[in-house]
Amino acid sequence: MQQRGRFITLEGGEGVGKSTNLAWLAQWLTARGIEVVRTREPGGTPRAEAMRELLLAPQADEPLDADAELLLVFAARAQHLAQCIRPALQRGAWVLCDRFTDATFAYQGGGRGIAADRIAQLERFVQQGLEPDLTLLLDMPVEAAQRRLQGRLAASGQARDRFEQEHAAFFEAVRRAYLARASAAPRRVAVIDADAPLETVQARLAACLEERTGAWR
Ligand code: TMP
Repeated sequence: MQQRGRFITLEGGEGVGKSTNLAWLAQWLTARGIEVVRTREPGGTPRAEAMRELLLAPQADEPLDADAELLLVFAARAQHLAQCIRPALQRGAWVLCDRFTDATFAYQGGGRGIAADRIAQLERFVQQGLEPDLTLLLDMPVEAAQRRLQGRLAASGQARDRFEQEHAAFFEAVRRAYLARASAAPRRVAVIDADAPLETVQARLAACLEERTGAWR
């Protein structure tokens, strides 16, 4: 029987360099003969991307209720799991996903203050025991990450989305929640210090992947 593929997630706050490193990670794995499905959350399928729009679009005249936000995140995740992640893993591909449920514990839990056990209930309901085999958490001080985000937005001319508009205290809480998740699950979550030049971060990622995925290949 075909062996189930591996599920790797990339996490971190705004501006830590996830997108650049995700592309690089996909190349690293592909170069080793692995079929990689690169995807993201919220989103990853047309319907889940529509839910992403609802989550990210700023709408000043009607705030999004925190519970509604949490449920939307998991609705998008259920769709993404059913249509993309589970089928890919079943046929033996490796799934490389830009954010997953650790982001929910960090943003809706740490950032919005929703109790972790309520999030864990939805996690069990939607994921039925499926969790990433490896999570790479890109970490850096919030101030440095915010400077990078500012630079990226200025260069692209893009407006801030609903999460990017949050204040520094929100992002500090997100970072603390991410780091707490990492210390609670050190075998699954590897913290990568991302406050360094790109080549250094990528050397750290490569070392981590060699160590953690060597036995799987
Ligand atoms: P992105 O910036 O990585 O594209 O992600 C979009 C935003 O969605 C980001 O600000 C974090 C937020 N988010 C949550 O709040 N909860 C979640 O579970 C996920 C996956 C993302």
